[in-house]
Amino acid sequence: MARDLSYLCTACGARHPKWSGRCDACGEWNTLVEEAGTPGPRSAPKGRILTLTDLATAESPPPRTEAGVAELDRVLGGGLVPASAILVGGDPGIGKSTLLLQAAARFARNGLKVIYVTGEESAAQVRMRARRLGLSESPVHLAAHTALRDVLATLEAEAPQLAIIDSIQTMWLDTVESAPGSVSQVRACAHELTALAKRRGIAVVMVGHVTKEGALAGPRVVEHMVDTVLYFEGDRGHQFRILRAVKNRFGPADEIGVFEMTGRGLVEVRNPSALFLAERGTPAPGSVVFAGIEGTRPILCEIQALVAPAAPGQTRRSVVGWDGGRLAMILAVLDARAGLSFAGLDVYLNVAGGLRITEPAADLAVAMALVSAQSQRALDPQTVLFGEISLSGALRPVAQTENRLKEAQKLGFTSAILPVLPRRAAKTGLDLREMPDLASAVQRHLRG
Ligand code: TYD
Ligand code: MG
Repeated sequence: MARDLSYLCTACGARHPKWSGRCDACGEWNTLVEEAGTPGPRSAPKGRILTLTDLATAESPPPRTEAGVAELDRVLGGGLVPASAILVGGDPGIGKSTLLLQAAARFARNGLKVIYVTGEESAAQVRMRARRLGLSESPVHLAAHTALRDVLATLEAEAPQLAIIDSIQTMWLDTVESAPGSVSQVRACAHELTALAKRRGIAVVMVGHVTKEGALAGPRVVEHMVDTVLYFEGDRGHQFRILRAVKNRFGPADEIGVFEMTGRGLVEVRNPSALFLAERGTPAPGSVVFAGIEGTRPILCEIQALVAPAAPGQTRRSVVGWDGGRLAMILAVLDARAGLSFAGLDVYLNVAGGLRITEPAADLAVAMALVSAQSQRALDPQTVLFGEISLSGALRPVAQTENRLKEAQKLGFTSAILPVLPRRAAKTGLDLREMPDLASAVQRHLRG
């Protein structure tokens, strides 16, 4: 077979015929590495063809198994689906192994046969961690392998209902020429494991480290192969961890589960709003509370802005937990539609608690945090905000207004600044200050 040499991006897996400094598929720099491609299998025509009506008589899907941890079960779409392939990605050290060992113990306790394959740590190390987590008595089977052939043989022979592979980057197949962790190895191993999941009805969870650079392939290169993609996120300086579904064939994407990393492992957080707001100090200019929605659940969090004179010729825009492009847009709209310029000023924006917000519904909260920081006037600390801002400066209503208001009321807030509602929202005890556009909200704040 001719060796098919090409360059693969370790971030997204795109194939390029020539080397270049930047991958034009995903835009990352210095991620292209030379790799021998693996020829795809040539399949002979075989197999039976079904029609959709044939499937109607097929048995209904087997029931899901719940871990009994609400934060995890919800992200999975209501529990673990048999024969599904799940990827759990995240930065090294964020807590993936801890999460999965705890989940393994829960599922084992609920009657599933679980095998935890560790390629990264020795079995003794995993046992030590289990002891620290108070799980040393749990009936989870451990296997320390890195050769995928051994993993597949073990899983075939033992036929567990759940297998955890920690991590996919340590696994290697002897039929693939390149080194473990390379794009070709990671893809080939994930492909074999996914096929095994379907063939033997085993739910397979693969751990993937997010890699910043170097020759190690990131989890993105297998996202398209699996049924469910979860990312475990958080700021190492904070104890909060968020498990986020970015793709799920068996449930809603965008669902999140919130955990806290403690000395005895991860603890689920049933009321994240209270936790995210707990750190809030005395009302300060630049601090506002955004009533957000993550998946199906409302989450209130604090957005902080700071504005300071810039050094001549170099204004800074620094954002944590929110999109930098979106910040630039809001600054432009504030300038063009509300007459507030941030030229010559450094702008810092921070979502407290290490949360990352992607909803445009946070536009109004971000804008008012900036206005409050610049005007040095604090907003009423009992007020929440939400609403999307259009380029014209108009405020657009957002989804799940009622859920946002209910959560705010539950946590003791008394008023909300929000877009004009198309019809009257269900009665809440909150004082609703509906604003048609950003300029009205800004004027009212500066007057009030
Ligand atoms: P780990 O699960 O090993 O991360 P990953 O598998 O994503 O690389 O978690 C490592 C971090 O978690 C480590 O810095 C120690 C911390 N940790 C705790 O704070 N409490 C605990 O009970 C455990 C097991 C780990
Ligand atoms: Mg680990």
